[in-house]
Amino acid sequence: MKPQIFTLVSSVALVSASYTKNLNYRSPSEHHPALGISIHKVVKRNDPSSTWDPSKLNFTHGIASGDPFPDSVVLWTRIAPSADNDKSNVTVEGYVPLYNHDTEEYVAMSNAPVCVQYKISTDKECKNVADSGTVYTSSDIDYTVKVEAKKLKPYTTYYYQFNVCNSNNVSPLGRTKTTPHADDDVTKVGIAVYSCSNFPFGFFNAYGNPVRKDSVDYVVHLGDYIYEYANGEYGWGQTIGRVPLPDKQIYSLYDYRKRIATYRTDLDLLASHQQFPWIPVWDDHEVSDNTYRDGASELNNTEASFVEDGGVSVDQRKMNAVRAYFEWMPIRQVEMDDNLRIWRSFSIGKLLDLIMLDTRHYDRSITDLYWNTDYVHEISDDAGRSMMGSRQEHWFYNQLSSSSKRGAAWRIVGSQTVFSRLNESVAYGLENPLDYDAWDGYQSNRNRTFQHLYNNNIGNNIFLSGDSHASWVSDLVWLDEKTYDPATGAGSIGVEFAGSAVTSPCPYGANISMALAYNATKFLVAANKELQWSDIYYRGYYELHISPSEVEAKYFGLPTVVTRNNYEISLANFTVQSGANKLNRPVAGGTVESGSLKTGKTVMTNATVDTGNGTWFVSHFDLEVL
Ligand SMILES: *[C@@H]1O[C@H](CO)[C@@H](O)[C@H](O)[C@H]1NC(C)=O
Ligand SMILES: *[C@@H]1O[C@H](CO)[C@@H](O)[C@H](O)[C@H]1NC(C)=O
Ligand SMILES: *[C@@H]1O[C@H](CO)[C@@H](O)[C@H](O)[C@H]1NC(C)=O
Ligand SMILES: *[C@@H]1O[C@H](CO)[C@@H](O)[C@H](O)[C@H]1NC(C)=O
Ligand SMILES: *[C@@H]1O[C@H](CO)[C@@H](O)[C@H](O)[C@H]1NC(C)=O
Ligand SMILES: *[C@@H]1O[C@H](CO)[C@@H](O)[C@H](O)[C@H]1NC(C)=O
Ligand SMILES: *[C@@H]1O[C@H](CO)[C@@H](O)[C@H](O)[C@H]1NC(C)=O
Ligand SMILES: *[C@@H]1O[C@H](CO)[C@@H](O)[C@H](O)[C@H]1NC(C)=O
Ligand SMILES: *[C@@H]1O[C@H](CO)[C@@H](O)[C@H](O)[C@H]1NC(C)=O
Ligand SMILES: *[C@@H]1O[C@H](CO)[C@@H](O)[C@H](O)[C@H]1NC(C)=O
Repeated sequence: MKPQIFTLVSSVALVSASYTKNLNYRSPSEHHPALGISIHKVVKRNDPSSTWDPSKLNFTHGIASGDPFPDSVVLWTRIAPSADNDKSNVTVEGYVPLYNHDTEEYVAMSNAPVCVQYKISTDKECKNVADSGTVYTSSDIDYTVKVEAKKLKPYTTYYYQFNVCNSNNVSPLGRTKTTPHADDDVTKVGIAVYSCSNFPFGFFNAYGNPVRKDSVDYVVHLGDYIYEYANGEYGWGQTIGRVPLPDKQIYSLYDYRKRIATYRTDLDLLASHQQFPWIPVWDDHEVSDNTYRDGASELNNTEASFVEDGGVSVDQRKMNAVRAYFEWMPIRQVEMDDNLRIWRSFSIGKLLDLIMLDTRHYDRSITDLYWNTDYVHEISDDAGRSMMGSRQEHWFYNQLSSSSKRGAAWRIVGSQTVFSRLNESVAYGLENPLDYDAWDGYQSNRNRTFQHLYNNNIGNNIFLSGDSHASWVSDLVWLDEKTYDPATGAGSIGVEFAGSAVTSPCPYGANISMALAYNATKFLVAANKELQWSDIYYRGYYELHISPSEVEAKYFGLPTVVTRNNYEISLANFTVQSGANKLNRPVAGGTVESGSLKTGKTVMTNATVDTGNGTWFVSHFDLEVL
């Protein structure tokens, strides 16, 4: 198949389009083209008098926005001659072989870039345009478009749209919202918090529900936005019609592009990206399972593992994954010459600072790789270990201090993995009862965090975390150092809200019965004194509603994810009063719908939901009501 190209012969003034305004051309390294994309070579290869026939181009994966600031936001789309992703991963002069998966043949890439215009306005009709521009994209960056819309007003809702230059080929209309200015008084901000969305395990209903309720301002994703596995290795995609492509474990740049693109076909994920600005960070599976600075659980960085991984080295695999991530996610690259840096922060009015960490890829000391669990257990209290590396740790502690100094009411920390100590001997056995891939494997890093909070008298700290596929709500306690009273919460310096997965299975067994899940949480809540509530049965998410006087967390559970549906169950609500640094008593008002409360009741309600594909009877009949 030959790409359709036509040459502009009319005297229509050529639009002045920009490569550099498309941020993806400048990533991953602005100042070292050899490490990234040479715009010079892209320009040289392309003939500006040629362009694509607009009718042959499609907005293949919707639109998205993210990393909102008071005066700007990142807008994203993909406009391409094929739904497939680009396979070429080098920018050479002349032709680049381009594999077309529909026709299963290599084709010569065109010498024309795709020209796109964007505009952002305060009205849905796009009349009050605040900013607009014209940029190029091409196969070099998988036909993605990432621009920064500027000149915006703080804490304002905007609508945005892309179109193929000088044509009626338009993208869907997106909605986004800037953040308040750091000095602004804000009375309420809502954030939906997610982690662990695994395509072959189910539909991403959790993403769609806040869209349907229009219940939040922003979306935070704590990682595991994709999974790298082959379907059969983890997931039952064939039974629900959701086999992730390419249908194998992923290694190359094409593989990572294709995997994200497959996830981006889920209608609820598309809807969330279309309606809310996202602030995501990655966890391990955006690259591979249990990654750390130098490797991952399935990669020993040996010649044997190199061969097994199709000749892609540990570092190359990480770079492929990271490059595809930046191409596809609507986020800023914090440092143009450091594409591994995703840790960043957002000042959201006088209300809060949102500090997003990378405890995973940047500079993490060796983690639990399954065959070395005893060893990592032994060294888990080693002073030299870090989850973030010294550079990020210093930045983190400075962020906490400056947030407190500027008088922000709340410090909200987005962490990939669970921060609180969690004795899970019911799952891991008594010898190695903790999850050493979480903060429990890096106790000195956690101690330094506590030390900094105590030394500087920093309060109103809320940790958010994911990764574990279950819900855990705890007072934030420096165990074995501070006296803590689980009944009153005295001795706590904040709260941790750890969330369940969008679809990834319960860590105590996929399809676990409600009775067994409940039994396990009773054990867990009893074995951990700071753990006030846990539910491991439901897949779901939570919403944070933040005001100067309190933070409310609302947990939602999904009756089923094996069909697309909009049902959810309110599992539990928590409140944290400003200055209290602990969960409000009685915790969760004394009653939750599922899981175990340390002090209080679990009230079961049988629910019947009609999914349009049979009726689901969600029953708690196998459970003893307290
Ligand atoms: C573009 O979208 C149209 C309508 O959905 C579809 O028929 C066409 O095949 C798509 N073209 C490409 C190149 O993906
Ligand atoms: C680049 O693409 C080729 C196929 O075009 C593939 O064989 C190779 O593994 C890719 N290299 C990287 C580093 O992704
Ligand atoms: C990595 O090395 C360990 C220890 O030699 C071994 O047990 C494990 O199977 C290896 N893993 C892989 C993926 O090669
Ligand atoms: C961390 O703090 C706990 C509680 O004081 C202590 O038991 C542990 O040894 C400390 N570890 C390090 C490395 O500081
Ligand atoms: C769990 O349920 C799914 C979907 O109903 C099914 O495909 C899968 O085989 C089940 N897994 C186990 C371990 O029973
Ligand atoms: C309930 O949990 C306890 C503690 O983990 C365990 O000993 C017991 O076997 C569990 N009961 C069932 C029915 O699984
Ligand atoms: C974890 O809990 C079990 C059961 O209560 C207990 O035997 C064990 O000592 C605990 N381990 C740690 C490290 O707290
Ligand atoms: C949580 O609060 C909402 C009101 O905001 C209420 O409708 C819901 O029943 C509460 N859920 C629980 C489990 O108490
Ligand atoms: C209903 O759900 C099942 C999976 O439980 C699926 O196989 C089937 O295709 C669905 N049917 C419709 C009409 O959505
Ligand atoms: C829930 O449904 C089960 C099974 O039909 C029934 O035995 C039980 O009484 C119901 N519970 C409530 C609280 O309605």
